[in-house]
This record gives sequence, structure tokens and C-alpha cells, in this order.
Amino acid sequence: MEQRNGRRLILLPLPLQGHMNPMLELANILYFKGFSITIIHTSFNSLNPSTHPHFTYHLISDNLSESEAVEKDLLLLISHLNRKCYEPFRECFASLVSDASKEPVACLISDPVFDFTQSVAESLKIPRIMLRTGSASFTAVISAFPLLQGKGYIPKLDSRLGEPVTEFSPLRVKDLPVINSSDPERFFKLVHNLTYQTKASYGFIFNTFEDLEQHALATLRKEFHIPIFPIGPFHKCVPATTSTSRFLSQDWSCISWLNTQAQKSVIYVSFGSIATLDEAQFLEIAWGLANSKQPFLWVVRPGSISGSDWLEPLPSGFHETLNGRGHIVKWAPQKEVLAHQSVGVFWTHSGWNSTLESICEGVPMICTPFFGDQMLNARYASDVWEVGLHLENGLERGEIERAIRSLMMEKKGDQMRDRLSKIKEKANICLRQGGSSYQSLNDLVDHILSLESLALIKHD
Ligand code: UDX
Repeated sequence: MEQRNGRRLILLPLPLQGHMNPMLELANILYFKGFSITIIHTSFNSLNPSTHPHFTYHLISDNLSESEAVEKDLLLLISHLNRKCYEPFRECFASLVSDASKEPVACLISDPVFDFTQSVAESLKIPRIMLRTGSASFTAVISAFPLLQGKGYIPKLDSRLGEPVTEFSPLRVKDLPVINSSDPERFFKLVHNLTYQTKASYGFIFNTFEDLEQHALATLRKEFHIPIFPIGPFHKCVPATTSTSRFLSQDWSCISWLNTQAQKSVIYVSFGSIATLDEAQFLEIAWGLANSKQPFLWVVRPGSISGSDWLEPLPSGFHETLNGRGHIVKWAPQKEVLAHQSVGVFWTHSGWNSTLESICEGVPMICTPFFGDQMLNARYASDVWEVGLHLENGLERGEIERAIRSLMMEKKGDQMRDRLSKIKEKANICLRQGGSSYQSLNDLVDHILSLESLALIKHD
């Protein structure tokens, strides 16, 4: 822990698990670098301050109605949050900035999905830095959307899905980011806003490291004339005890269950915090897992199967056919699971946090992406880093069984483990003194401490 430096950072995370986790990890990293941390959080998915008692918290009321708070259309939910959080955030932020009893605010760190932070920070002459929670490659692709639209790759046409996107090899049209919504324009607005918010910031931070995404980071440095700080993998920078926030409580029974399994024998299955399945897909997964005859630990979030509360669609007798080989939970302590010696493969939706966590523990992946950046992450895992097997032809029990067997019992899995151990070593090196993320973090701290003078120049 470094000495307190007399400066405060205000953080505004987006209240979704895959965005909240890296923001809290970043908060811990910067706390250990000497900053005081104030977190503004929303009543929707609010935080429990006792999990990080060294931070100061301010709760803003987002006033989402009951129906808005359970909105399944992700982009509509984001639009509600943007509309309803703007005013409460502005008031809260202004009062924090003017509070002379606390350390001066060095900058705001926000998630670019919130579209109002730039104007609020600017009006109060406070510099703002972005945390991009996805990969650098995703940001590079998102920033090139006007070009990709001009070339006719987007909107994606069924007839072109398999076509290579030559500007972003090895991506294919089907891998380009998209989030479906009742109004397709919402996605393009989000993409436009992400790029605008990033360009207007004083810098942006990535949960990645140079050796993993060198090419994308170089592209971004050429395109954006603002500092970029790849300081990840975040979760390896902070002590495990100061780990993340959870909206669902973790079921630790899975660790005792893993303790009873043979080394590298278990397939861990989790599709993150947002993706949903229909009943037919759910059953294909269940039978694919059962038929593979491998032990599995499966996270099924309540409500993630359309029309069901939890496991109701499983046929009676399913559990008996497993003979103890399967363990199903609602939410797992994922980082601990991936670090467990019994886990041999991670079947993932390829969310960016999950991808990084798997890479850092050296666990090969089966990739079933659903939306957003996940298709791109899956392509990188399978075709660039060659540490994942991309299930490209939908969810079908025979195919699932073959994929599991090929990673568990054939050479392919061992070859991936060899590649992963090299990447994992690079991830460790980059965090050590002299490593790229270590250096980038020091640069970030210097940059934040220099922002006061920069902000004055920019606003004069
Ligand atoms: C979403 C998008 O899906 C993802 O593509 C984007 O990069 C971030 O926002 P999410 O679905 O939440 O993310 O996936 P992911 O990015 O993988 O984050 C999930 C987090 O929840 C991970 O940190 C993971 O460790 C944690 N998790 C997941 C658990 O702690 N327990 C679980 O059972 C499942």
C-alpha cells in the first residue's frame, strides 16, 4: 500500500455485473496507489458498502419503475438508466466536488455506457477518465463502425455472415458486435456514444495487457490522441480478499464438490450475468453435458431460461442419470472455481471478464457467444490466441459432447493448456516491476496527478 496522496477519485460504475466487477477492482488498485475512493452507485443493483469499507459511498436514487427495473431489453434498460440517473448524478457529483472538508477531486472515472458524464464533468471543470470494460480489440472495432457500415458489413446481412472482415482479420461479419433491441437504432446510438465519450475523455483504462492485445492497442493509440492505460489483468493486481461485488450470492458448496473431483476433470459452465437461453437450448446443454460423461459444475442463473424460474425444464430422472457427476448452482465464486485444480475446461459465453479470468488460470475454453462483444472475444480465443474451441453451429447435444471430449480427452486440450501457460506467464510478468501493466499503472497515477493543471489549460 502506498502513502495517501491527498487526492480523491470519484467513480461511477454501470450497475451491471460485468461492468461493476472491473470498476471495483480498479478502485482497489487505485486505492492501493494512495488515492481516496468515492463511489457513486445507483439504487438499481446497489452496492453493499461493507464489502469495501475503505471506500466512501453515495447512493443516488435512479427512480426506475418496477417494470423498468426488470427490463429484459438490455439497451432499453441502459436508456432508462441514462435518462433517470443524469439529474441525481449531477447533483451528487456537484456536491462532492464542492465539499471542502474532503481531499480535492482529481478526476471522475466513469463507464462510457453512461452518456451524461462528459457534460457534467465538463460543466464542473473536473477531468474525466473512462474505464473501458471490454477488450481493446472490441474498442478498436466499435470505433471503426462508420467504416464498417460504409463497407456494408453492418447491419449484418444473413447472406454475408461468413464473410471475412479484412480490416479486422480474423473476424467475420457474424463476429461483429451487436445487441438486439426492440429499436435497432439504440445499438448504433450506444456505439456512437461509446466512441464520443472516449474521445472526449482525458484518457482511458483497459483491463487488458500489452502482450495479449498489442495490435489493437497500437491501432487505438494511432487513432485516439489521448493516453491509453492497459493495466490489467485487474483481478490479479488486487488481493483476493478485496475482490468484487455481487448481485447474486455465491454458492460455495461448489468448492467442496470440486474438492472431491479428479484433477482437471471438471467442465465449468457459466454464461455470465446477462445471457438467456430458451428451453430447447437449455435441454441440449443438459444432455450434452450428461452424455459427455465428464463431471460438470454448471451455473444456471435464476430466470436465465425463458419461461422458467430455475431448473424446472429438466426432465424428472435427469439428476439420477448423472450419478453425482453434475453440480448445479445459481451463482459461483468464479475466480476461485477457475483456479481450482479440478477444473479442466471452461464453457463460457466469452464475456471479457470471464475470458481474462480463464486465461489467467490457464483453463481452455469452449466458447458460446451470445451478444455484444462476446462473438469477437470468442473469435480471438479460438483463432488468435488458440485457447478456445468455438461452438459455431448452435447448441446441439452431439456437438457439445464432441467439443467436451475433444478438449478433455484429446491432444487439443493439452495444446491449448501449453499455449495458455505461456500467456499466463506473460500476464504475471506484465504486473511485476518493470512489466508493461506495472509501468502503465504508474503512468496512470502520474497522469491523474497532473490532470489539475491540464484541466485548467483545457478550460481557459
Ligand atoms: C457483460 C457482457 O456479457 C460481456 O461480454 C462484457 O464484456 C461485459 O458485460 P457478463 O455477461 O457479466 O458481462 O460477463 P463477464 O464479462 O464474463 O463478467 C461476468 C463476471 O461475473 C465475471 O467477473 C465472473 O467472474 C463473475 N461471475 C460469473 C461470478 O462471479 N459467478 C458466476 O457464477 C458467473
